Amino acid sequence: MTLVTANPELNVHASEQAKTGSPWVLVVGASSGIGRAVARRWARAGSDVLLAGRDVEDLERSAADLRLRCGRRAEVIAFDALDFDSHESFWRECLDRAGGDLAGVVMLHGWMPAQADAQNDFALARKAIDTNYTSAVSLLTLAANDFEQKKRGFLCVFSSVAGDRGRQSNYAYGSAKAALTAFLQGLRNRLFKSGVTVLTVKPGFVDTAMTWGLPGLFLVATPEKVADDVFVAVGKRRAEIYTPWFWRYIMLIIKSVPEFVFKRMKL
Ligand SMILES: NC(=O)c1ccc[n+]([C@@H]2O[C@H](COP(=O)([O-])OP(=O)(O)OC[C@H]3O[C@@H](n4cnc5c(N)ncnc54)[C@H](OP(=O)(O)O)[C@@H]3O)[C@@H](O)[C@H]2O)c1
Repeated sequence: MTLVTANPELNVHASEQAKTGSPWVLVVGASSGIGRAVARRWARAGSDVLLAGRDVEDLERSAADLRLRCGRRAEVIAFDALDFDSHESFWRECLDRAGGDLAGVVMLHGWMPAQADAQNDFALARKAIDTNYTSAVSLLTLAANDFEQKKRGFLCVFSSVAGDRGRQSNYAYGSAKAALTAFLQGLRNRLFKSGVTVLTVKPGFVDTAMTWGLPGLFLVATPEKVADDVFVAVGKRRAEIYTPWFWRYIMLIIKSVPEFVFKRMKL
């Protein structure tokens, strides 16, 4: 049954739920600054949420808060992105907890090393690639195959503006996000005919632990603003968003600088 309310945003959400048949949304990386806001946004709109991540105690506190404030079901599942062998059983557990069916997945786990460290230590560069890209490919493969077979569901995955053009200040992280963006383009292309939506999210600077103390930040957004943008974009079945919106134009300018100029810039 589709619930029609006076709030147009809730109506978008209700019609999405009616399509998928499940009230459950999985948030991977739910202990992240943005992940908490995302879980809250979906729970406020009437979803039940599965919170996945490494810090189970932190996630249990968030789950209790969501149950209290939003009156929705909220459950915690341990997930380590770098433990690839555990991904299949993790996905099965998610489906079990959700009664066999998820409305969608929001995937936000990520890790950004200091570039100076990553360029001197391959283990750190590899950790950035594995956390931001390889683990996402592994989990998205499981989720995409399941949703494709059921012909429904949404995949909402956090890439970054850092993946739009490699810069000397963070290209280890940026290259992993660029790979993720390309993977999502292909996945979206493949899943289109099955009705499964794939949203690529490209945030600019957001006020979270990832950016805490970094120099040169400007136009920093709140996690709540990003969560609102993402929620609306999923409801509208969008393919890609920059959040806040003006980063699309900032990146358009950055991408259009000719390489012979760009390579001389201190970015
Ligand atoms: N903040 C920004 O300015 C910004 C800009 C562009 C894109 N993004 C992207 O947005 C997403 C969320 O970022 P945020 O700023 O909210 O990040 P954050 O607060 O630093 O959180 C990162 C999250 O990733 C999780 N994580 C890291 N390694 C993991 C692993 N091996 N297994 C499972 N979880 C792991 C962390 O879990 P633990 O709590 O266990 O460490 C945490 O939940 C990320 O994908 C990030 O790349 C952020």
